[in-house]
Amino acid sequence: TTVEWEAESYDMDGHDTYMHKEICEQADAVDRVLRGRIDDRFATVRLDGLNMDAREARAVRRVKILGCGSAYHAGLIGAQMIEELARVPADAEPASEFRYRNPVVDPDTLYVAVSQSGETYDTLAAVQELKRKGARVLGVVNVVGSAIARETDGGVYVHAGPEVCVVSTKCFTNTAVAFALLALHLGRVRDLSVADGRRIISGLRRLPAQITEVLAQEEAIAKLAAEYADATSMMFVGRVRGYPVAREASLKLKEVSYIHAEAYPASELKHGPLALIEPAVPTVAILPEDELLEKNRATLEEIRARGGRILAVAHAEQEKADHTIVVPRNEVELDPVLMGVPLQLLAYHTALALGRDIDRPRNLAKSVTVE
Ligand code: AGP
Repeated sequence: TTVEWEAESYDMDGHDTYMHKEICEQADAVDRVLRGRIDDRFATVRLDGLNMDAREARAVRRVKILGCGSAYHAGLIGAQMIEELARVPADAEPASEFRYRNPVVDPDTLYVAVSQSGETYDTLAAVQELKRKGARVLGVVNVVGSAIARETDGGVYVHAGPEVCVVSTKCFTNTAVAFALLALHLGRVRDLSVADGRRIISGLRRLPAQITEVLAQEEAIAKLAAEYADATSMMFVGRVRGYPVAREASLKLKEVSYIHAEAYPASELKHGPLALIEPAVPTVAILPEDELLEKNRATLEEIRARGGRILAVAHAEQEKADHTIVVPRNEVELDPVLMGVPLQLLAYHTALALGRDIDRPRNLAKSVTVE
């Protein structure tokens, strides 16, 4: 069986699809995940639900994030944020891989299970395996009181509100922001400075308005979607902070438009995937204005030289790209939150152009509660 939201009990507010409604309400949703959690006095956050005091938070030697699909991709972003802000080794792994490989469970590692529904069987089974081996497990979950929320030792609710569309959008974004809060918390009980804490808090507070700015580009993004809807396959590339964005955007396109797509670390292209580049296989390139911008621009050159069309998502127009979606700058650690939003709209409008069943894509369910 699958857990289906009582869709009829959830109003569409005049939108044609739940996916469009949920994309458009992300500014309000991010407001909710931040609400009541910012501590300006100590330039940190209050996450009472963690059930971990400062000493226990400081004792964490490593963070392992587990989830499926978009939840896993949000975990990839979270792992980078935790490493950047708390300087604690962190990584993300698909929950299904973790649970089947007889994992070595480390008592000094903090495990974090990520799940919108809180009912995904693979993730729940991973949590139960960890609890059986005495690990401390947190949940970053949307549905209050769900199985994963009940099974874990504490956690952070992402407060995205009911997400009905099978294709996750607002919950993905809220989960990435929830990880920014967790990373800030872990950083400020360690060596992250007051100044950096204030910098991240200022960036978090700018997110809702910046999301609204990105959503205001919907008409232009819809035109780009129509232009790329004829693609036989699409490549999504990014480096470091851009790579999880590429992974998630690739999944969005696949699951809602049925166009095949692949995401690669941009540096990996020359190790094989470049052979796929041709006019019928456009590339979406994620180019945050960070220390890798010139490297990312060189990748655009590699693709152009092989006749590939390029849609760039960047902080400024990219002359080497055929099209650029410009996204407002935030703090470099938070850029992945914003850079994914236009690609949700790209996937949505591509699916619309192709006449897909957007809220219930074929073969998929909102929460996979079976193995
Ligand atoms: C998201 O667009 C997908 N529908 C899917 O990958 C989803 O993220 C995954 O099944 C995990 O679901 P959960 O967050 O409810 O655990």
